[in-house]
Amino acid sequence: MSEQLRGAISISDLGVIFNSGGNTLQAVSSATMDVKPGEFVSLIGPSGCGKSTLLNIVAGFVNPTSGNALVDGAAIKGPGSDRGVVFQQYSLFPWLSVRRNVEFGLKMKGIPAAQRVPQARTLLGLAGLLAFENHYPDQLSGGMKQRVGIVRALATSPQVLLMDEPFGALDAQTRVVMQEILTNMWQQFRISVLFVTHDIEESIFLSDKIYVMTARPGRIKAEITVPLPRPRKPEMTYTPEFIGLVQQLKALIREESLAAMGSELKDGGLSGFGMEVGPQGVEKVV
Ligand SMILES: Nc1ncnc2c1ncn2[C@@H]1O[C@H](COP(=O)(O)OP(=O)(O)OP(=O)(O)O)[C@@H](O)[C@H]1O
Ligand SMILES: [Mg+2]
Repeated sequence: MSEQLRGAISISDLGVIFNSGGNTLQAVSSATMDVKPGEFVSLIGPSGCGKSTLLNIVAGFVNPTSGNALVDGAAIKGPGSDRGVVFQQYSLFPWLSVRRNVEFGLKMKGIPAAQRVPQARTLLGLAGLLAFENHYPDQLSGGMKQRVGIVRALATSPQVLLMDEPFGALDAQTRVVMQEILTNMWQQFRISVLFVTHDIEESIFLSDKIYVMTARPGRIKAEITVPLPRPRKPEMTYTPEFIGLVQQLKALIREESLAAMGSELKDGGLSGFGMEVGPQGVEKVV
């Protein structure tokens, strides 16, 4: 197989203003970032800072108000099969079996039925889901549904995989297993990934590079390179390098989360709302 050098995302000086009900809201302001072909990049930042908006621009669901968003040097005109998307909510078709869900994108791409079945089965095998090919989404756990979602997004051979908090609805243990499955799958495909998450450890474990966004209007506050070797192993989360990165990112995010929550939480607000409660409890205070 020849080395593929596609899937470059380049965002420069990007601004997004939403107009709804007569109100305008600046969601993103002069954001500049890039994802190189085959790179795994995470985007983290406080709630409402514009992470999903940036990802939706790359997916082609939202148009920027100013600046440029390019994939492989071409302006993004709308959604396309070169970019696969996985959301937090499981977006499988409940009336289709697992294998038919995966085959769906292949069918849309015009791939004949005789090729669709073996392609879907190969991908399901990589994700450990072949035994469930004839199950329906209702019969699967959350982690399994999201694995099918990832397989489905990969089935059309996209150059870019866009993931918006894909493990956000899973319990902590399932989440850790899913992270390992995702890094293993990504190492085999070597496509570019733009991954949105709230979870600092998750972003470090998965990524080559992490962009930290400011509170809204979101700008890029910091670009952090993750120097941990591949393949990533769960034991790495105990290393001094990993812990150092967690601390660095926590400090950056904390500043922005405070900014996002507004002035009421600053100063005295963080030291117990400025109240002396004592052993009698809240009852005696209010
Ligand atoms: N279609 C829209 N119309 C109007 N405002 C929008 C629209 N989409 C997003 N916004 C606003 O833009 C801002 C950024 O939203 P966005 O969903 O990108 O944030 P986020 O960083 O993904 O947040 P979270 O971490 O909570 O998912 C928010 O204030 C949101 O209310
Ligand atoms: Mg979001």
